[in-house]
Order: sequence, then C-alpha cells, then structure tokens
Amino acid sequence: MTTPSPGRLRPRRLRRTPALRRLTAQTRLHPADLVLPVFVREGLDEPHALTSMPGVLQHTRDSLRREAVRAAEAGIGGIMLFGVPAHRDATGTGATDPDGILNVAIADVVAEVGEALVVQADLCLDEFTDHGHCGVLTADGTVDNDATLERYAAMALAQAQAGAHLVGLSGMMDGQTGVVRDALDAAGHHEVAVLAYAAKYASAFYGPFREAVESQLDGDRRTYQMDPANRREAAREVAIDVAEGADVVMVKPAMSYLDVLADVAASTPVPVWAYQVSGEYAMIEAASARGWIGRRSAVTESVLSIRRAGADAILTYWATELAGWLAEER
Ligand code: PBG
Repeated sequence: MTTPSPGRLRPRRLRRTPALRRLTAQTRLHPADLVLPVFVREGLDEPHALTSMPGVLQHTRDSLRREAVRAAEAGIGGIMLFGVPAHRDATGTGATDPDGILNVAIADVVAEVGEALVVQADLCLDEFTDHGHCGVLTADGTVDNDATLERYAAMALAQAQAGAHLVGLSGMMDGQTGVVRDALDAAGHHEVAVLAYAAKYASAFYGPFREAVESQLDGDRRTYQMDPANRREAAREVAIDVAEGADVVMVKPAMSYLDVLADVAASTPVPVWAYQVSGEYAMIEAASARGWIGRRSAVTESVLSIRRAGADAILTYWATELAGWLAEER
C-alpha cells in the first residue's frame, strides 16, 4: 500500500513558524480598538469588588479617575461609564441631574484624561429608576416608549454638558436615536457622537451587570430588547438607527451573536462595535479560576473572534489588561 499524500495542497506550510503565522494572520487586535466599561457608585468610600465579575470594581469617583489614567496609558480607544446612584425614583431623576453620579463622573474623567480616551456614557434609565426598567412606566406598568424619549433627550443634554464625547443609547426604545440627535443639535452639541445599541438582545448574559449596578429590576426586558431568536430583525433595527443619524451601531451581546455581528458588519456604512458583556466575562473568569481553560489565551481568543466576525471596536471588561498583553507581544 502506498503512503497517502495530500499532494501539493498543504495549508500547514503557513503554520510552521511563529513568523509565518504572524505574517499570515488575517485579523489583529489593537489596543485602540478596545473600550473599557466601568462602574462608578455614588457615595462610595472604597472601591467595591463585584462577586460575579472577579477583577471588576464599582469605583469611587477617585478610583475611577485612576482607572481612566491606566486605560489611557494602555492606549485603549475609550471608556464607557455606568453610574450607580444612591437614590432611585420612578423617572430616574438622577440621570438628568447635573450633580448626578454619572454626569459628575463624565466631567471627572474628561478633566483627568482629556481627549486621550473617547469618553462615553451609557444613556439609559435602568440604573436610575426604582423599578429598574430602561424607561418610565405607564399607570399599568408597561414601559412608555414616547414618554421615555423625552427623558433620554434630557439625559443626552446632561451628558453632553458634562463633556461626554459620545453617548451610548442602550435602552432600545423606538425613535431614541433621532430624538437624541435632534436634542443634541438643537442645543448646539453637533460634535457629540451617538452610538446606537441597535441590535441589543434580551439576554441572560447581562446577569452579572445587574449586580454591578445593583439593579432593582423584577421581571425582564423582552418588550423592548430583541428576541434572541431573531437574526433578520437586527438589519431592520440597524437601518432605522442609521437613518435616524447614528454615528456608530452596536451588536450586544457579542459571543452568542457573532452571526448577527457578521451580517451587520457586512451591510452597514457606519462603524460597527460589539459589546462583550458581563456574563461573557464571568463565564471565562469562572472557568479560568477552576483551571478548566487558560485565562489569557481564552480571553484573547474570545475578543479576537469578535473582531474576526466584523466588529471594528469591542467593549470588553478586559480592555486595559488585554492592551497590556498586546504591548508585550509587540
Ligand atoms: C442598560 C445596559 C445593560 C448593559 C449595558 N447597558 C443592562 C441591560 O440591558 O439589562 C449590560 C452590560 C453587561 O452585561 O455587561 N443600561
């Protein structure tokens, strides 16, 4: 019997040495494409570690400034701020109060790092409402789309006045991008960019985030966030947001939605970002802590796969650490 042979077609040729693999790598990660989501809590004396997100902290205003400096020094592209207010109410008053935690944190970070990072803020009411929904409620307890839009417009102005470079609309209300764009422009904030979380799914992978912002939600967000079953609907959401003036669109979560991300990346004229959410972080940290997977390689592969699927930039809780690894490898 003759020895079987692949003939002349040997893909392993390009995998033989690190130099060949490096030269033929189709996708690369760069610190500039990473955005770090961070939590800042009102009235906190010391940074507070989150049980379900090992390594992630709720920051004080001071520790947030230090975190932002570390992120800027690591060369990442931006920071996304989430506020945890001390008091909550039905309409999320803290979100539009210039002295509210998120707005003062935006000003703190801008004062600290200037334009070394793109300073971004989550524009949504769920951290500020006592019922934990992303909008205001009607008398019968459903989320009132159009009344919520007025709150988002006011929130956008508060964030722009605090100095945000970009506002991240994560509430999934219909019309939110257009209303916020109009409100910003009417107040002269033409320069503030709008990131629309265009294809945001009602996902179980936001679980640890609920601890991070001490969410008081009882129930779910399925009347406004997308059904995980739906792929084509993402194209519709993205088209609406682009038509309404979104500068950037987002797919969220990332790892369970790489098909959606690839679709959106292939067909969208504006930058497409993806959010590797809290549950994705928690799963990899938990398995790594047990020695079931290699932490650094799993983290790197997970973010690389999101980039490969088409994300131009990635929000990830590992942004600063990963940027450090990438610098080491250069
Ligand atoms: C809404 C918002 C959420 C996340 C980001 N923005 C929570 C939600 O929609 O339920 C989740 C991010 C994560 O899980 O890391 N303000």
